[in-house]
Amino acid sequence: MLKDLIQRPRRLRQSKTVRDLVHETDLSISNLIQPYFLDPDPKAVQPIKNFSGVNRWGVESLMKQVETQMDRGLKQFLLFGFSKDKDEAGSSAYAAENLVSDTCRRLKSQFGKDIVLFSDVCLCPYTSHGHCGLIKDEDVHNDSSVELLCQMALRHAEAGVDFVAPSDMMDGRVGALRTALDQKGHSSTGILSYTAKFRSHYYGPFREALDSSPQKGDRATYQMDFRNAREALRELELDLQEGADLVMVKPALAYLDIIRALSEKSPVPVVAYSVSGEYQMVKLAAQAGIASERELALENLTAIRRAGAQILITYFAAAAAEQGWLT
Ligand code: PBG
Ligand code: ZN
Repeated sequence: MLKDLIQRPRRLRQSKTVRDLVHETDLSISNLIQPYFLDPDPKAVQPIKNFSGVNRWGVESLMKQVETQMDRGLKQFLLFGFSKDKDEAGSSAYAAENLVSDTCRRLKSQFGKDIVLFSDVCLCPYTSHGHCGLIKDEDVHNDSSVELLCQMALRHAEAGVDFVAPSDMMDGRVGALRTALDQKGHSSTGILSYTAKFRSHYYGPFREALDSSPQKGDRATYQMDFRNAREALRELELDLQEGADLVMVKPALAYLDIIRALSEKSPVPVVAYSVSGEYQMVKLAAQAGIASERELALENLTAIRRAGAQILITYFAAAAAEQGWLT
């Protein structure tokens, strides 16, 4: 007998009620953001290869889908545009008429302040070469790309988006966006910065969704090297100086140390983007009978939150709302 065993941690695990009493980390639907991919065909619900249960949505179908989500308590959405008319400069990204702005207007006129809309600001779904900015001398040119991103963000702000979310990783874009937005009277449009976005191999299904893979080379000259952590703190410092309202780490699951580091230093909320490859791995594991989709997804999302992310962007948000995972 272990008579003198004073410390018995199992006392705090002895019943579900005790476990619930002492649990530290909560997931709530109000902290989740669901990404949606847009499609130019208004009626489209277009499935995506290797991205189970995720579609590109035409505006008419999306309006219905969002209404259902709103009824179930999911009210935060990140919109990604898509274009078949790609060119060198990604001009359909910042054209006066564009898919993201049109969709924002529709959603905002129906849901007003009850909905929170984020819009992706990046050129890769619109450029013929698939890179996130303008190509000059065989590389993505920083400053001229930032100018176009500002144009794109302005179109979204004019349509009433709540937060623009630059995912391009150009230097100085947060400050430039802030200035551009303020000059045009959009001082209440916020910026969710992709602060520490790594050059990851977890983006496959996403690039399939938007046909946005680089035609040549990779994104190593602008996205972060996953061997590095310190750099994330430098990016955080810059984004804060430049006026970011929310800062993000992406991907999430393989970068919990980065989430932890930023959450200890950041005075603004830290967002984590659990990306397409992380989602699809869970889907495939569930399909293979390794674990339940719901349990695996919730374990991953809880871990990301436990690491310090306050807000999670996840393709599971819709399922969580639909199937009542968090109630
Ligand atoms: C590109 C962008 C990417 C994602 C969001 N915006 C990936 C990329 O670098 O091609 C990934 C999201 C996901 O995989 O879910 N600006
Ligand atoms: Zn991009």
